[in-house]
Amino acid sequence: MNTSLAAVAAAMTISASALAPGTVRAADGDPASTTATSRSQAAEDFRWGAASAAYQVEGAPSADGKGRSVWDHYLDDRSLAGPGVSGAVAINFYDRAQYLQDIALMKRLGINSYRFSISWPRILPDGQGPVNPAAIAHYRQFIADLKAADIQPMLTLYHWDMPLALAEAGGWENRDSIAWFKRYAEVVFANFSDQVDLYVLVNEPLVEFGMKHLAEQRMAGEPGVFAIVPDGPQLTRALTTFNHVMLASAAAKASFDAQGRQGRLGVALPLFPVLNAEGATPDDQASAALADGVMNRWFLDAIYNGRYPEDVVAAARDKGADTTSWAADARTIGEAGFDYLGINFYSALYIRRPAQAPSGYAVEMFTPEGVYTALNGPVRPDQFKALFDRIRTDYGNPTIFVTENGAGFPNEDTLIDGAVVDTRRCRYILDHVSAMQAAIRDGSDVQGYHVWSSHDNLEWLFGYGSRFGMIHVDFDTQVRTPKRSAEVYGRLIRGEAVTAADCE
Ligand code: GAL
Repeated sequence: MNTSLAAVAAAMTISASALAPGTVRAADGDPASTTATSRSQAAEDFRWGAASAAYQVEGAPSADGKGRSVWDHYLDDRSLAGPGVSGAVAINFYDRAQYLQDIALMKRLGINSYRFSISWPRILPDGQGPVNPAAIAHYRQFIADLKAADIQPMLTLYHWDMPLALAEAGGWENRDSIAWFKRYAEVVFANFSDQVDLYVLVNEPLVEFGMKHLAEQRMAGEPGVFAIVPDGPQLTRALTTFNHVMLASAAAKASFDAQGRQGRLGVALPLFPVLNAEGATPDDQASAALADGVMNRWFLDAIYNGRYPEDVVAAARDKGADTTSWAADARTIGEAGFDYLGINFYSALYIRRPAQAPSGYAVEMFTPEGVYTALNGPVRPDQFKALFDRIRTDYGNPTIFVTENGAGFPNEDTLIDGAVVDTRRCRYILDHVSAMQAAIRDGSDVQGYHVWSSHDNLEWLFGYGSRFGMIHVDFDTQVRTPKRSAEVYGRLIRGEAVTAADCE
């Protein structure tokens, strides 16, 4: 719990001069921080939101002619999240009667931006074949309903639900995926760009790869290890995948621009500051530097400098990767000119060199004893601030949207007497908003913040037990109950000064 207290202490230093509305006030009532807002234009336009993804919330796996996704296969055909764990209902969000209630709830909280994904196999059931008008109509209605509630859409095109037919053809490891995605993106732009002006092209290629690799291990009958940073044997496949996902995003962006469409496009990257534990050896430090290269610099250097990091390319070459096209590919990605950077931030990661690793690239995530963690790793709002600083100073201060930030904690979401007091999540959110506001004061161009997630939902291969929502969902009855974090986040958005004590 020690780091938790340090994190709360960080929140106490926040003053009212943050650009964004909503202020986290010192728990001791520092008078300088009691005025809630500074009403600059940037503050007026700031998007305060929440995020979700189609497969995690929608259910309705065959409604309106939907095709199958790789996730239907993983959970329903192969039971990879455990017996009976399925996305067939999830939180029933495809149902209009249900989602209208959810939109009303979010509006009551004060959320003005909702990041959601549309499902590729709904729009193109075979991945490549004919367009499904029923799915287009569904999402157009959904977006109209959001906007009628004054909630702005942030539309993600791809949040991991690859059409099964394309996954079977190799998915992102097949270079044809660039053309597959471009076509899908063109269908999306043609059908939604009168309603939407902010798009996330793809979500988290890094974590998607880790999840896919875990699925493969489970299909082979092993419990499997979920490695966010690919280990040695996976390095070449992982980088090949990332290269194709980023090239696909660049192709979609080029097409959007060539058609003269209006809107802003970016990708949502899971950025993980890398830490060495006390007593790290030079080998551990070298592994940590390479892990930073794979998880962070690989993407950022390509987007902002048009090249892949030399150390990572050399490590891949050392593992036998064919890197022939990579320099030109990185230039293409750099030339795409994405309009903003989407940051998904959860934690910092401790990295070391595994014992008895063969020579060359070898990395291992671990958690030193005594470190305060959430389900997604060590809780470090200070590293969130450091990440903004790094992007501002090393990558030319691009516009940023925080596309995901949030936490789940074991045994935190119990409904007692009609209420869920999720103190740790609530503090996590306040501490990270504080860190973001500090970065804005230092000059970072952050234009929006989305909590992962609005609701509890289906956490991929980890099923329904890992809750991340500000709104509790009873998965049997579909009853919703806003948690303490929702109430406090709502007050923050509405411009009230809130403190960590409000989370108790
Ligand atoms: C992200 C992912 C989300 C959600 C979240 C919580 O990596 O984009 O879909 O699962 O983690 O773990």
